[in-house]
Amino acid sequence: MTHESIAHEKDEAAHHEVSEQKSQKGKLRRICGRFWWLYFLLFVIIVLAVVLPIIYVAYPKVARRAADRSTLQVTSMTIQNPTPDSVELGFTQVVNNPTKYEPTLYPFNASFYMLDNADNPPFASIRTPKITKAANGTESEVPLQRVNITHMDEFTRYVLLALGSEEFTVALRGHGGLSTSSLPKTNVNYDKNITLKGFDGLKNFGLLSFNTLNTTEPDGTNAVGVAAIFNPTVMTLNLGNVTLAMSVNGTDIGVATLNNLVLVPGLQQVDLRAEVYQLVAVGIVLERQNPVLPVDLKGGNSTVDGQQIPYYTTMLQEVALQMDIDVTKAMEGS
Ligand SMILES: *[C@@H]1O[C@H](CO)[C@@H](O)[C@H](O)[C@H]1NC(C)=O
Ligand SMILES: *[C@@H]1O[C@H](CO)[C@@H](O)[C@H](O)[C@H]1NC(C)=O
Ligand SMILES: *[C@@H]1O[C@H](CO)[C@@H](O)[C@H](O)[C@H]1NC(C)=O
Ligand SMILES: *[C@@H]1O[C@H](CO)[C@@H](O)[C@H](O)[C@H]1NC(C)=O
Ligand SMILES: *[C@@H]1O[C@H](CO)[C@@H](O)[C@H](O)[C@H]1NC(C)=O
Ligand SMILES: *[C@@H]1O[C@H](CO)[C@@H](O)[C@H](O)[C@H]1NC(C)=O
Ligand SMILES: *[C@@H]1O[C@H](CO)[C@@H](O)[C@H](O)[C@H]1NC(C)=O
Ligand SMILES: *[C@@H]1O[C@H](CO)[C@@H](O)[C@H](O)[C@H]1NC(C)=O
Repeated sequence: MTHESIAHEKDEAAHHEVSEQKSQKGKLRRICGRFWWLYFLLFVIIVLAVVLPIIYVAYPKVARRAADRSTLQVTSMTIQNPTPDSVELGFTQVVNNPTKYEPTLYPFNASFYMLDNADNPPFASIRTPKITKAANGTESEVPLQRVNITHMDEFTRYVLLALGSEEFTVALRGHGGLSTSSLPKTNVNYDKNITLKGFDGLKNFGLLSFNTLNTTEPDGTNAVGVAAIFNPTVMTLNLGNVTLAMSVNGTDIGVATLNNLVLVPGLQQVDLRAEVYQLVAVGIVLERQNPVLPVDLKGGNSTVDGQQIPYYTTMLQEVALQMDIDVTKAMEGS
């Protein structure tokens, strides 16, 4: 055999192999051609089998865990313009998110619950705003909105808890959408305990001045004063027109009024008007032989536009303040 013929044979064998490969490829292509849809379907099924659980099982799980692990801190709250069955409510919240995941939270209906029983009904619900990229420390403002009181007894208990406690906790619960930029919206349940400082019985209340007027005003006011109130909470609370009964050792000596009382966070001065039953007061001074009367302020009453606000009135019934009034001094001013 010559080198040429060997080369030729090799060439032919190679050619044969190639053509066999070619025909196999052709066969494959034909089969593929006929069954392309099957392969395509398989491909789609495999992709879906991998992707769907990620989107609809793993991702919502991650989202839910992030939602569960995050906490809310309320940094300010306003409750104003009360009516007998609604208030205007708004607050600022800071999200504490310990995860790296920064979801966008869609608006939802957040309901407030007392925590002492698992099946307490909600006392109010508020529409939350959208929060884009809720990273750790993100602040968001739930705008002031009129909120119906959905359960008066529960709301009254809430108001009493806020008044009487140094610190108290309520639950905020709801169900809303959550997403990241690349993945679809998923629904999560929110169940957050929110701890707030309470008014602690408003016990830091003091009288700065108190003077009787020269002439009694048409509404009966015969004394005016200035009181100092310390509000230890982050809440701005509008209590309407507040009246408090003034008494000394159980004997009524008058009524004090704090018109349009708005408790703002921190220390503040408020004007006080009073109708003092002067003959009774003087009688007690003479009896005690002491011009300084320890006056109890209690049995409060809250009204707005002449309408009683029942939940604040119930709360004010629990308020028990005391102030010393020097009756001779009060009368010297007149
Ligand atoms: C989140 O922020 C708070 C203060 O705003 C900080 O104390 C906390 O360590 C932060 N957590 C993470 C995981 O960054
Ligand atoms: C908000 O949720 C509460 C409690 O589930 C419900 O009573 C109320 O009707 C809801 N409000 C809206 C506007 O969906
Ligand atoms: C509150 O109640 C009033 C009357 O019952 C109703 O018209 C109004 O839509 C309610 N508001 C909300 C936010 O549910
Ligand atoms: C909220 O507080 C209550 C009572 O202390 C507790 O039973 C509940 O597990 C807490 N919920 C959350 C979400 O922390
Ligand atoms: C308060 O009134 C009661 C009788 O109602 C009397 O016994 C008591 O001594 C009075 N206390 C003072 C400090 O006046
Ligand atoms: C509450 O205030 C209203 C209006 O000022 C008054 O008519 C009513 O007698 C007060 N009630 C009490 C218990 O003080
Ligand atoms: C509070 O009382 C004053 C005097 O009676 C009245 O002019 C005012 O409108 C009342 N304010 C509210 C919020 O009802
Ligand atoms: C009360 O009357 C006296 C004298 O008649 C006067 O000096 C004083 O300014 C009056 N006080 C007020 C608060 O009007």
